[in-house]
Amino acid sequence: MTVENIHVSLGERSYDIKIGAGNLGTLGALCREAGLSGTAAVVSNTTVAPLYWERVRGSLQEAGFRPVLISLPDGESYKNSRTLDLIYDGLMDAGLDRGSFIVALGGGVIGDMAGFAAASYLRGIPFVQVPTTLLSQVDSSVGGKTGINHPKGKNMIGAFYQPRAVLIDVTTLETLPEREFLCGIGEIIKYGVVLDAGFFAFLEEKGELLLRRDREALIHAVSRACAIKARVVETDEREGGLRAVLNYGHTLGHAVETLTGYTRYLHGEAVAIGMVQAALISEKFGFCSREDGERITALIKRLGLPTALPDFPPAAYVEALSHDKKVRENGLLFICNQGIGDHRMERVNDLNALLEICRIGE
Ligand SMILES: NC(=O)c1ccc[n+]([C@@H]2O[C@H](COP(=O)([O-])OP(=O)(O)OC[C@H]3O[C@@H](n4cnc5c(N)ncnc54)[C@H](O)[C@@H]3O)[C@@H](O)[C@H]2O)c1
Repeated sequence: MTVENIHVSLGERSYDIKIGAGNLGTLGALCREAGLSGTAAVVSNTTVAPLYWERVRGSLQEAGFRPVLISLPDGESYKNSRTLDLIYDGLMDAGLDRGSFIVALGGGVIGDMAGFAAASYLRGIPFVQVPTTLLSQVDSSVGGKTGINHPKGKNMIGAFYQPRAVLIDVTTLETLPEREFLCGIGEIIKYGVVLDAGFFAFLEEKGELLLRRDREALIHAVSRACAIKARVVETDEREGGLRAVLNYGHTLGHAVETLTGYTRYLHGEAVAIGMVQAALISEKFGFCSREDGERITALIKRLGLPTALPDFPPAAYVEALSHDKKVRENGLLFICNQGIGDHRMERVNDLNALLEICRIGE
């Protein structure tokens, strides 16, 4: 079976992403190739470790490392400083020194926390990402954003810290719950909409194969998504410009999450709803044709994601959007699609008019 290699070119912080099916057992060899040594502290959680730790342990051991497991409670609500302390405890108990490294085995929550532990423990030790959700494979494991939440805000504490390597085994997605899988599909569609028309067309053609978790289709889609994200990160590592385009759909998506108290929708579902609204808005602003807008909505719907804003009064959305002081003072910088495969930013001052364009509660 194919193993794709995507190189992320960031000078001395460059690294490779290996994407295959059934390649989890090559982790040890990959860590060797990346020049790592010593103890491998595998940070995972109580859901993922029972599924994949044994294979990871075997592979690391075979390659001459000393693997130890640090298993954390599962969930976004644990992405905080208390759980980070559990990681530091585990690293110290295992006697990790600068000659050792961390492996993040899990979804975005584990990747972000383990990455931040790696960035800060002993002022920085190497780490390797082994993402096991579709969202983390196509988004969070690439690009070096790491961190934890604070009671006053999501991802408020963190660092830009690149991994030494990323290993993606798409067969790990076979145990992922359907809703979580679809959240990753939403992020994949996003790349097509704002950065790559050819990829969007591929998704229109092969969407159903992806939904069936066909391995070759997944390898192709994950590789293309990683390649697109890698190019964005290479251009704008610390989110000074282009990287913001990856927030397409997130503005209204966040408003949905806020209004529904983070319980009704998973993040990726809220973003999918936000993307449909962004397409409607882009169409209204004259940045894309009606046909393009309809293609975007149709694909999101066909691939099993929600499309309409939940039924709250427009004023509630306006309130959620203007929460940020910067937005109140300077207007909202809204990411639009330009046709399919391109993007543009638009400053929006009249949020009421913006909401009139949106589709609420259908
Ligand atoms: N760093 C970045 O650039 C970036 C980008 C996007 C999102 N994020 C962060 O990523 C997080 C969301 O990540 P996520 O969507 O992967 O959620 P997650 O890490 O919470 O994983 C979702 C659920 O799936 C389980 N799981 C993981 N892999 C599994 C598998 N193979 N089989 C069965 N169950 C499995 C997890 O234990 C969890 O219960 C958020 O905290 C978000 O802030 C970071």
